[in-house]
Amino acid sequence: MDRLDGRVCLVTGASSGIGRAIAGLFAAEGAVVVCADRRADPVEGGETTVDLVRRAGGRAQEVLVDLGGPEAAAGLVDAAVAEHGRLDVLVNNAATYVSKPLLDTTLAEWEHVFAVNVTAVFLLTQAAVRHMLTREPDAFGVRGRIVNVSSQHGFVGAPLDIAYGTSKSAVVYLSRQVATDYGHSGIVCNGVAPGKIMTGKGGREDDPDWVRRWQERSPYPRLGRPDDVAHAALFLASDEARYISGENLMVDGGWSAS
Ligand SMILES: NC(=O)c1ccc[n+]([C@@H]2O[C@H](COP(=O)([O-])OP(=O)(O)OC[C@H]3O[C@@H](n4cnc5c(N)ncnc54)[C@H](O)[C@@H]3O)[C@@H](O)[C@H]2O)c1
Repeated sequence: MDRLDGRVCLVTGASSGIGRAIAGLFAAEGAVVVCADRRADPVEGGETTVDLVRRAGGRAQEVLVDLGGPEAAAGLVDAAVAEHGRLDVLVNNAATYVSKPLLDTTLAEWEHVFAVNVTAVFLLTQAAVRHMLTREPDAFGVRGRIVNVSSQHGFVGAPLDIAYGTSKSAVVYLSRQVATDYGHSGIVCNGVAPGKIMTGKGGREDDPDWVRRWQERSPYPRLGRPDDVAHAALFLASDEARYISGENLMVDGGWSAS
């Protein structure tokens, strides 16, 4: 229960779904979690993540921010450091999608997806690395850890969602690039690549045809849950992930293996 004891972790998109599970698990492991999202209420319903964490005895701060704007993304890390004195782990989880194929996607839709899914990740990572490089390395030689939530669709095509799939591919690459350029300085950067995770957000999740298609495609006897991804993120955020950087860990029940 103390794998992140006292560490300050910033999780974007922490109000709902996978980000909510990550924030809850990190707090249960002793982290102080800065929960950043454009809305406080979970998309799937229920109490806010911060209330959930506090009710369980954990520590969390809520920050309402729309990461679609570059100023907001750039300022988020500095605000967290000002509030808590440091940042140990950044989890870039927030993302948006359009669910349209190439010929139906407008430039405005493409640019919005890239603003949230790629530019915000770039700006948050830039600010985090800048801060982490000012810190002394820990016992493992690490100055800070970054976990980017990418997707299996960063590796294989995202059916009928060109903007989302292309943006997730950029996140996969960004993780490798940061690991490449700053590994010698003690920055560890990895990605978690979820397969189909049922978050309760509706949309395609409520369509039996899509659910059947996903289940038939997956060798695992069930589809994914937010906790499945949270445990992978916890591993990569913890001291247990050693000599692992630039990796994108598939959490897809074997989907991409088959
Ligand atoms: N659910 C899946 O099957 C699945 C599969 C692969 C990858 N992923 C990835 O996992 C991550 C989380 O996905 P999810 O399914 O939990 O999504 P979700 O829609 O349930 O939650 C996303 C959260 O991000 C927040 N968010 C969206 N745009 C934002 C913005 N502009 N500023 C601030 N916050 C914003 C939302 O308010 C929401 O709370 C995403 O990066 C997604 O690409 C999910």
